[in-house]
Amino acid sequence: MATGIELLLAAALCAACPPPNGSLPANLILLGEDGGPSTELPIDLDTTDAGVDEDIGEETLETIISKKPKLHEMREWIGGKHLRIATLEDFPLSYTELLENGTRIGHGVSFQIIDFLKKKFNFTYEVFVPQENIIGSPKDFDRSLIEMVNSSVVHLAAAFIPSLSDQRSFVYYSTTTLDEGEWIMVMQRPRESASGSGLLAPFEFWVWILILVSLLAVGPIIYVLIILRNRLTGDGQQTPYSLGHCAWFVYGALMKQGSTLSPIADSTRLLFATWWIFITILTSFYTANLTAFLTLSKFTLPYNTVNDILAKNKHFVSMRGGGVEYAIRTTNESLSMLNRMIQNNYAVFSDETNDTYNLLNYVESNGYVFVRDRPAINIMLYQDYLYRKSISFSDEKVHCPFAMAKEPFLKKKRTFAYPIGSNLSQLFDPELLNLVESGIVKHLSSKDLPSAEICPQDLGGTERQLRNGDLMMTYYIMLAGFATALAVFSTELVFRYVNSRQEANKWARHGIGRTPNGQSVAPSRWLRGWRRLDSGHGQLLGASTHNQNVTPPPPYQSIFNGGSHGDGDPLNRWRRPLGHGNAIGTGVLLGGDSESGVRRLINGRDYLVFRTPNGQSQLVPVRSPSAALFQYSYTE
Ligand SMILES: *[C@@H]1O[C@H](CO)[C@@H](O)[C@H](O)[C@H]1NC(C)=O
Ligand SMILES: *[C@@H]1O[C@H](CO)[C@@H](O)[C@H](O)[C@H]1NC(C)=O
Ligand SMILES: *[C@@H]1O[C@H](CO)[C@@H](O)[C@H](O)[C@H]1NC(C)=O
Ligand SMILES: *[C@@H]1O[C@H](CO)[C@@H](O)[C@H](O)[C@H]1NC(C)=O
Ligand SMILES: *[C@@H]1O[C@H](CO)[C@@H](O)[C@H](O)[C@H]1NC(C)=O
Ligand SMILES: *[C@@H]1O[C@H](CO)[C@@H](O)[C@H](O)[C@H]1NC(C)=O
Ligand SMILES: *[C@@H]1O[C@H](CO)[C@@H](O)[C@H](O)[C@H]1NC(C)=O
Repeated sequence: MATGIELLLAAALCAACPPPNGSLPANLILLGEDGGPSTELPIDLDTTDAGVDEDIGEETLETIISKKPKLHEMREWIGGKHLRIATLEDFPLSYTELLENGTRIGHGVSFQIIDFLKKKFNFTYEVFVPQENIIGSPKDFDRSLIEMVNSSVVHLAAAFIPSLSDQRSFVYYSTTTLDEGEWIMVMQRPRESASGSGLLAPFEFWVWILILVSLLAVGPIIYVLIILRNRLTGDGQQTPYSLGHCAWFVYGALMKQGSTLSPIADSTRLLFATWWIFITILTSFYTANLTAFLTLSKFTLPYNTVNDILAKNKHFVSMRGGGVEYAIRTTNESLSMLNRMIQNNYAVFSDETNDTYNLLNYVESNGYVFVRDRPAINIMLYQDYLYRKSISFSDEKVHCPFAMAKEPFLKKKRTFAYPIGSNLSQLFDPELLNLVESGIVKHLSSKDLPSAEICPQDLGGTERQLRNGDLMMTYYIMLAGFATALAVFSTELVFRYVNSRQEANKWARHGIGRTPNGQSVAPSRWLRGWRRLDSGHGQLLGASTHNQNVTPPPPYQSIFNGGSHGDGDPLNRWRRPLGHGNAIGTGVLLGGDSESGVRRLINGRDYLVFRTPNGQSQLVPVRSPSAALFQYSYTE
């Protein structure tokens, strides 16, 4: 690396250097003052030697040679001329002011450029605006800017005109692109970020699906494995849990709740523990990711691209007669897929040139999306920001009620336009090119704006409290859960009712289902169903019998191996322990007098016939299979 001293040394040594080689490389064409070639062209000139490609070589040479004198000629022609210049109201790029004496003065970036050209080429100009503030198109020609240009009423149109294809047959766009216009969407700032369904955010869609699958699959798997193990080992200690219990355990573990299942066998324990480990890892990932999501998540807008507008059928507004309108209405332009939205009145084209008015009227009041090009939108939002800042001092959300999409709605090159066949563009284009390349045009369009971004998408409020919108999902889950429970509950009721009807029919068919009171069985069973619901123990023999005076017979085995309960009181032999003491004595009266049962043969089967206190006969089947069935149907 050259240090300062080395450089000094080199400079000192080079004072003695030979002067730079004065003679230029061979084959170089030198242009004289007037632009014509000063050196005689070598006869055997090869175009590749001149640094140009063969196919465009000749033309380039001709252009170079002919350009200078022509420009010189035109300069002289335009000096002192009076030009008529048309423009559009397109703040801040071009806008006009009408003085009291009827003179129109142009302002904005376009006229700063024109003024520069005016100084350079010494012409004067007059400003005109079309009767309607529209660019115009073949179908929208009347009173438009391109009509003025096409009819050569004006010498040029000084505005940032997007170069649209249809308009090309009426005007000549300057070859120098002033800038690349970017039309941006402005919309109301959404209350929360679009990913408001934050509870689902930590995992991808497929992860959720697989969690659901494992939730459904693991219960049966555990169930099957336990059964398999029991079969293989013949171990009676580990009771095989029912499928419902297994599924409930899986679900309870996923929710980090417990389960009453406590497996004894080691392998079963391992099975359970495996699921627990899975759940532990899963839930800690979920929690961590949810935290990160809520604190670091990016702010997203509901409408970011044209496709969002199209897919969600969003109303939008843009300037009448601007680039966006023609890009939509023209068949082969980039936005022609939005044409359907114009037909369905989703698109509005505002005649109003006051952007602030459009912003307040359409976006703030009606929730439209406003499409406008870049410098205009920045200035509009900045002015709005300044105004709001004067109203409320501290709350940033109040200052920035609007948000801009990042993706441009439309991109078009923008240039001045000339009548076809005009030679002004040849004169102006090199100067414009210099202005563009030196960044002056860009600077002019943003010079009234602060360099900081105004109202960025993400306002970056650090302490974000969870809003109701963030928790919407939980509320929905609650509602869905309650609704499901309600639905299940009502089907339970319906089933119970249907079942009781069937039972009643069955009993009635067999002719032995009469209640002691002579009522039909169905209502009392129905009622008993209700009571069962709140007692929770369907099989309480005493309680249910007491409540409805139906006296089911004693358990089969207790009749024949009496006293096996070790209960001294014979009255309570078949009674389960009861909460209500008053059941004793008023309920089952069969117990004591088992000897009063009479063995009868009815329909070819053995029955013990008991007599209830009400004088009704009660049959108890004696043959063991029937008795077991009978017992089962009563107790379960
Ligand atoms: C000057 O240019 C000529 C022609 O290209 C070359 O022959 C000569 O060596 C150059 N002299 C120096 C000092 O570079
Ligand atoms: C430029 O065009 C105008 C007519 O539009 C013509 O009068 C003038 O001579 C032209 N100038 C040159 C240098 O060709
Ligand atoms: C500009 O044009 C006017 C009118 O033709 C002429 O009087 C003036 O000298 C010109 N100025 C320059 C700098 O050429
Ligand atoms: C109109 O007023 C402006 C400024 O007051 C002046 O420069 C211009 O020459 C006036 N135009 C006419 C036609 O009087
Ligand atoms: C545009 O101008 C040309 C020549 O002045 C004219 O022939 C043509 O009719 C104009 N186009 C329209 C649509 O008026
Ligand atoms: C659109 O483009 C297609 C193919 O490039 C062409 O055939 C068609 O004529 C164009 N339509 C219009 C209205 O320009
Ligand atoms: C634009 O409209 C707003 C609101 O309607 C108004 O306050 C403002 O003065 C208007 N600006 C211009 C330049 O007319």
